[in-house]
Amino acid sequence: MEYTAKDVAALYPRALTRYSGLVVDHGLGCRVWDVRGRSWLDFTSGIAVTNTGHCHPQIVAAIRQQAEKIIHAQANIFGNPAVLELSERLIAVLPPPLDQVMFSNSGAEAVEGAIKLARSFTGRPAVIAFRGGFHGRTAGTMAITSSRVRVRGGFEPLPAGVYMAPYPYAFRSAWRSDPESYSEWCLDQLRELFETVVRARDVAATVVEPVLGEGGYVPAPKRFLAGLRAITEEHGILLVLDEVQSGFGRTGSLFACEQYGVKPDILTMAKGIASGLPLSAIASRRDIFDAWEPGQHGGTFGGNPIAAAAAIATLDVIQSEHLLENARTRGTQLLQGLRELAGQHPRIADIRGLGLMIGVEFGDELGSPAGEFVSEVIAKAEARGLLLLSAGTYGQVIRLAPPLVLSEAEAADALAILDAAMSDVESQGH
Ligand SMILES: Cc1ncc(COP(=O)(O)O)c(C=O)c1O
Repeated sequence: MEYTAKDVAALYPRALTRYSGLVVDHGLGCRVWDVRGRSWLDFTSGIAVTNTGHCHPQIVAAIRQQAEKIIHAQANIFGNPAVLELSERLIAVLPPPLDQVMFSNSGAEAVEGAIKLARSFTGRPAVIAFRGGFHGRTAGTMAITSSRVRVRGGFEPLPAGVYMAPYPYAFRSAWRSDPESYSEWCLDQLRELFETVVRARDVAATVVEPVLGEGGYVPAPKRFLAGLRAITEEHGILLVLDEVQSGFGRTGSLFACEQYGVKPDILTMAKGIASGLPLSAIASRRDIFDAWEPGQHGGTFGGNPIAAAAAIATLDVIQSEHLLENARTRGTQLLQGLRELAGQHPRIADIRGLGLMIGVEFGDELGSPAGEFVSEVIAKAEARGLLLLSAGTYGQVIRLAPPLVLSEAEAADALAILDAAMSDVESQGH
């Protein structure tokens, strides 16, 4: 049976916003194929997941081998060599003093767990989150999400005790040309929150993305994260870095926080961790994890052995194929290419990124967010063989998040297609 976009529309619930009409059959490296054999260059990586490329042979082999041994080794009942080895491997590469990990299945589940853990450890109720952040679609993570109102609108009341502070998204502020000063202003707003709305001593955690993901692919200025670390330390508040999207090599280091020199108390990861199998993790210090009594957190499926084997192979491939270095090199190539394109495409308003987590923001002649232009460019790019995703509150950002195995030629192809797609839309009078 050959399925089409129509079948997808009929069978998948409407809630799954459609980025493309594509029914994908298979993938390899940076490309995916439909059932008819047409291929696309995939600059979405399935929302920043397939960092080692689609179906990397080493990952496929690891999955096969583990599937023949044991498929489900429930963590409350059994230890398992793959899960134990993955724990050791992660602890070895995590920023110290993080020395324990707990596995779950999705990014949202890991962030929910991080909030619970911070509350248990500190005995405090409140959580600070940052405007524009996205952390998931469970009740707890919706409550700390503010990237787009459609994520949480209609689901009130959400868990209480959450307070929002501004994120230093300088481009969408009056401090466009001075992100570092804007960072200071944002930190002052946080300090003021403690004086006006919630006592610092009631705050368990601040949860923040080092690079805003769904909110628009905005790297935090260095001063902001360093300042946030200092404020949280001053008040005994735990710093939770949500690296669900920025982790696993996407920004050119295994975790983005390494580039900032900021050490979190809790780090959440998912997406790229197992090259596409569902797996997430909370990393923290043993003394923090010890705040949980046996049975206070867990789940049936957390720490699946096949996902763990895929994650071990993912770490191996990142290392043996020098994918962190490649992410940085290809990221520089893309940023340079985009800056050249900006000269010919006046709707490009800002270009930013770390490694292969690159955002291109579009604005109209008055500087307002150009979400419609972005949707049309994405459709034209798909027609020309390149898959892209948007980001940002108004869908005004095109995100470039290709697999980290991206070659120089593939990066050049993508730039050429993006150039042509933008020209297509401009020629229609936009
Ligand atoms: C930073 C961040 N945190 C959490 C999540 C939620 O992850 P999941 O969709 O796996 O629940 C996402 C997903 O996009 C994310 O980007």
